[in-house]
Amino acid sequence: MNPKDIYIGTSPEEVSKLITNYIIGLAKSLDHSMNIAISGGSTPEMLFQYWLKRPQREFQDLGIRFWWVDERLVPVDSPDSNYGNAKRHFFGPVGYPEDLLFPISFHKDDTPEEAAEKYNELLKKHMESEGRETPFDLVILGVGEDGHTSSLFPGQELYNRQEYYIPSVNPYNGIKRVALSYQGILRAPHVLFHVLGHKKRDILHEVMQRAKEEDFSLPASFVFAKGNDVTLFTDLEV
Ligand code: 6PG
Repeated sequence: MNPKDIYIGTSPEEVSKLITNYIIGLAKSLDHSMNIAISGGSTPEMLFQYWLKRPQREFQDLGIRFWWVDERLVPVDSPDSNYGNAKRHFFGPVGYPEDLLFPISFHKDDTPEEAAEKYNELLKKHMESEGRETPFDLVILGVGEDGHTSSLFPGQELYNRQEYYIPSVNPYNGIKRVALSYQGILRAPHVLFHVLGHKKRDILHEVMQRAKEEDFSLPASFVFAKGNDVTLFTDLEV
């Protein structure tokens, strides 16, 4: 039954420390360089702030490579850019090697379909060159207040899309997106949910309850119920 493990921290920083210890432990257990797909939004900012305090080369000395769970089709210098924020708030300041970072890149005129296809091509080359069955060792997800995760929103019928990355859109503001699909998430051996703050209490409880009842009407419930080795890190009582 998922989540397999739940780690509750008394503060966002303690949750970040628990997540970081988990990541380092997993990285050291693998017989290859670890590939992490990380989400956007504001919650990962807590991780970036904490990681800035850690030994600067900790992740890069382990050869950890970062990919993105999803991206908004906005310029990298936009505050809405998941990669742009991650680069500004952590990867840039610590001088993370560019060859260990794999942003969802696209041309400003690309459609979400074209951008998703480009990233799928990059993933395919990565898997072929490394003889991997799946691109990521770990997928780090958040949960939106509507129960979305990645850029998979309630009401979108995307459960059966087989491609790793698919086009999406934020239904509330129309911003086009590229998202790691449900099937792409389910192929990862480890899934980590990072959920912080009292505003997320109700939705987190709802998502977990529906997962228990095998009610997949909320995107995060589907992943909580069906993901591999799902671990929840939160500052909330669950
Ligand atoms: C995105 C994220 C998204 C996020 C949730 C939670 O690009 O928006 O990938 O899935 O994880 O919306 O967002 P917050 O961390 O901002 O609450």
